[in-house]
Amino acid sequence: METDGGAGNVVRNKKLMLKDYIKVLVKVLYLSIDPYQYIRSTKIEKPGYFSSYSPGSVMASYGVGRVLESGHSDFQKGDLVWGTTGWEEYSLITEPETLFKIQHSDVPLSYYLGVLGMPGLTAYVGFYEFCAAKKGETVFISSAFGAVGQLVGQLAKLTGCYVVGSAGSQEKYTLDEPEGIKNMMNIIYKRLRLEGFVVTDYFHLFPKFLDFMLPCIREGKIVYMEDISEALESCPAALVGLFNSSNLGKKVVIVARE
Ligand SMILES: NC(=O)c1ccc[n+]([C@@H]2O[C@H](COP(=O)([O-])OP(=O)(O)OC[C@H]3O[C@@H](n4cnc5c(N)ncnc54)[C@H](OP(=O)(O)O)[C@@H]3O)[C@@H](O)[C@H]2O)c1
Repeated sequence: METDGGAGNVVRNKKLMLKDYIKVLVKVLYLSIDPYQYIRSTKIEKPGYFSSYSPGSVMASYGVGRVLESGHSDFQKGDLVWGTTGWEEYSLITEPETLFKIQHSDVPLSYYLGVLGMPGLTAYVGFYEFCAAKKGETVFISSAFGAVGQLVGQLAKLTGCYVVGSAGSQEKYTLDEPEGIKNMMNIIYKRLRLEGFVVTDYFHLFPKFLDFMLPCIREGKIVYMEDISEALESCPAALVGLFNSSNLGKKVVIVARE
């Protein structure tokens, strides 16, 4: 409460203050195109793990970027990061705890959207934590030339497994050289097990995964194929391309070159 000058009347001045959120401003360099973005673009009647994008909102996406401004002590101007950004040139990150600082930039930065990012961790967790195939066993991989599939195939081969893959086009089939699955009934007769998992539940394994995957890349034990489009405007077509099998490897869009 305050008094208004000499008149002695009491006046009130209610104020609504904008909370000082801890934000990080990122210049987006690369964007990841992933199948879940299609799911989020549809009307999800019962939102569970995923909810629908609201019309008019920015499409969310994993991205790699450079920090321009930071109100969070873990991130400094100039840092390279990856995490949830948007289909936009600049992203204001209101939950900086979802960002990962890029410590190793001797590999292509776009790898943090693929082999060193969410799809890579999916392949790693799926193969080592769930499948846990042993040398000599047969591993079947669908979308064997996609972001996740191409890595599972290589991890299985490194383990000494026999790899059988399926891919949606002759071109992918030739690139990957898998043996096509011929008799799905074998899945039943061999009493195969089916189990799902969500990779974000395993983000705590990310440091262990990096310790494994970075040397594999540097030593050429793991190779990674990317399918790169240029410019933000190419994002919608890139997403559609995932569903007509036109991507040859991990789909990435370059938004800006430094
Ligand atoms: N569990 C998790 O947490 C987790 C994390 C990441 C990804 N995923 C899932 O893993 C799968 C692969 O993801 P990714 O990022 O590696 O994508 P991706 O394989 O790089 O791209 C998607 C691929 O799906 C295939 N495809 C397209 N339309 C299809 C259809 N109608 N039915 C079946 N396959 C179709 C195409 O491969 P072909 O041309 O070879 O058919 C396409 O290249 C997706 O289902 C994704 O949702 C799960």
